[in-house]
Amino acid sequence: MTTTTETTTVKGAVGTAHTRVEGRDKVTGAARYAGELPFANLAHGWLVPSTIARGRVRSVEADPALAMPGVLAVLCHGNAPRVDANYEGTLGRPDPVVALFQHDRVPFVGWPVAMVVAETSEQAREAAEALVVHYDQEPHDVEFSAGRPGTYLPEGDGMRVEKGDLDAQLAASAHVVDAEYTTPEEHHISMEPHAATARWDNGRLEIVDSNQGSTWVADEIAKLFSLDPSSVRVLSEHVGGAFGSKGLRVHQVLAVMASTMLDRPVRVVLTRRQMFSLVGYRSPTTQRVRLGAEPDGRLRAFEHQGQSLSSTVHEFVETSAGYGRPMYAADAHHTTNRVVRLDVPTPTWVRAPGEAPGSFAVESALDELAEKCGMDPIALRVRNEPAVGPVSGLPFSSRNLLACFDEGARRFGWADRDPRPGLRREGRWLLGTGTAAATFPVLVAPSTAAVTAEADGTYTVRITAADVGTGARTALTLIAADVLEVPADRVQVRIGDSDFGHAMLAGGSMGTRSWGWAVTAAARELREKLVPGGHIPPDGITVRSDTSAVLGTLSEKERHSFGAQFAEVAVDVATGEVRVRRMLGIFAAGRIVNPLTARSQFIGGMTWGLSMALHEEAVRDRASGALVSPDLAGYHVAAHADVPRIEADWVADPDADDPVGIKGIGEIGIVGAAAAVANAVWHATGVRHRTLPIRPDRVLRAGVLPGATGAVPGDESRA
Ligand code: MOS
Repeated sequence: MTTTTETTTVKGAVGTAHTRVEGRDKVTGAARYAGELPFANLAHGWLVPSTIARGRVRSVEADPALAMPGVLAVLCHGNAPRVDANYEGTLGRPDPVVALFQHDRVPFVGWPVAMVVAETSEQAREAAEALVVHYDQEPHDVEFSAGRPGTYLPEGDGMRVEKGDLDAQLAASAHVVDAEYTTPEEHHISMEPHAATARWDNGRLEIVDSNQGSTWVADEIAKLFSLDPSSVRVLSEHVGGAFGSKGLRVHQVLAVMASTMLDRPVRVVLTRRQMFSLVGYRSPTTQRVRLGAEPDGRLRAFEHQGQSLSSTVHEFVETSAGYGRPMYAADAHHTTNRVVRLDVPTPTWVRAPGEAPGSFAVESALDELAEKCGMDPIALRVRNEPAVGPVSGLPFSSRNLLACFDEGARRFGWADRDPRPGLRREGRWLLGTGTAAATFPVLVAPSTAAVTAEADGTYTVRITAADVGTGARTALTLIAADVLEVPADRVQVRIGDSDFGHAMLAGGSMGTRSWGWAVTAAARELREKLVPGGHIPPDGITVRSDTSAVLGTLSEKERHSFGAQFAEVAVDVATGEVRVRRMLGIFAAGRIVNPLTARSQFIGGMTWGLSMALHEEAVRDRASGALVSPDLAGYHVAAHADVPRIEADWVADPDADDPVGIKGIGEIGIVGAAAAVANAVWHATGVRHRTLPIRPDRVLRAGVLPGATGAVPGDESRA
């Protein structure tokens, strides 16, 4: 077949709405996830979690389990292969929970103490649930509270940042807000549980997984098992949600251990209940915010002290207090992240780590300050808009926060709002509106990509990107199509295969920006290489890119996305139920590659913010050290019936450095959303809620502003 590079010139795929390229496969079931791909001779592993929060495994009664139907092996600390978690990975040291069965210590409820491998998953489960484990139990401590004994300032960047004399500025302030906010333990709840199948194939380890970065996981597995990195291949084609939970986790390690021991493919799928203790979660936080302002609202003092928890085996810090550093200028600016180590699993990144809980505290406190100053909450933010980074002094790459508030206020109808709380009533419902700002860092990391001009006139992009449900595969298709100047249907993007080479993981809102940069670089060079009308050899022409060098030349700036969140709530004075009636989010988050999937992503984040404000709360039982109900019956995530009309839109905000103009949109949707809801609850009831979630019992106990219940339906003149 004679083929040429002759093409119809097409421009502008980026910025136009495209359905997901794999959408049909997903809705018809043709897309196979890690736990359902067929394998010959497949065995199944089932994890046995500890039932105590602290102590030792005295013994595991393996023999009765081994005698059960189909059981092939029982792994525990007595017989598991040795691994070494003493290495530096991409994101530092791994959580030692991945060094499975290396000792008899138990540091939390749910710690893996054994795994049963059997011919079927049912047989493995039956035996795992029947397995008797004897423990030597020790007293545990899972109680989290502000400033409790053991709380410390971690080492490392960004834990304490101080500028100016806080006490002096607070003393000189006309208005002071000093309030403590708390957020509970929250979980990622990805729809697809963690699942991996491992097998050895001619001396190469292949892992079919569900993760946020296949080269990342391959690298960690190689280090953990002391393997040559080139002998590990990780594949992760479709991922049903991740949100920070899908890196190296116990399921891949379990599958590798068992397939190595049995020399056959082994699959391990975590149950929903196991996910509550083994894939990380968002730490509860206590946050004290002190703001001091001039009569006109200008901030003299800004203090944010955040506290989170971590496990006894690994330090992870939820950096809530980082939120205000790029946001609000003040003469004195003090922010600190502290942590306390308890007998609980290690928390981890959860969508907008730091910013999600941090924005709840700061954006609530700003609303309280606006009330004290007698100012409109948006006007207060306008008054405190900084010209340069408030702490760093660096210029902003772009800062379109006020454009978000302008557009949001116009569309939400903010100008008509009576600022007084507890005035609006409709039957049993008190009504209120609230707003909050949002921000998230804009980062980028080195990636490699390969783009091939195929002999049939199509193009293939290969990059170890991960599409965790965001539409990344589709976004990269549009980006490549524009650079190559061909219609999007001529481009095939292949992702989720560590053999494609190093690429940034899907995290930190950096995926599409990092991958898009690499894809653009390779596609540009390919396009220059192709001679119009020239022949393409049968195996195509391939160009590879690596963005390491170019990213090293980026100037130092404050790079962030921004947003303005709005919410309207109704509060039932009889039951304490809070219903969100509508939400609007306007974002300045770089050039939007695919408006269809981007809008979904913003709305998804905002929905999670609603859920964070009103519903989500994992409760730990002091006596047992376990979660009270680690399941979706007890841990309520906002369902359809909870979610009203949510609109998300954006203002023009292309990033000047990025070749496509991308900033990143993965996380900012949740930032500020819970504060907007909480501020609306105050506006409805006249009572501040500083503890999430704003449960009916909390609303009832806190009551409403005297007079609010006496208002007459339709009469908005009475307070
Ligand atoms: Mo996300 S919490 O950056 O995976």
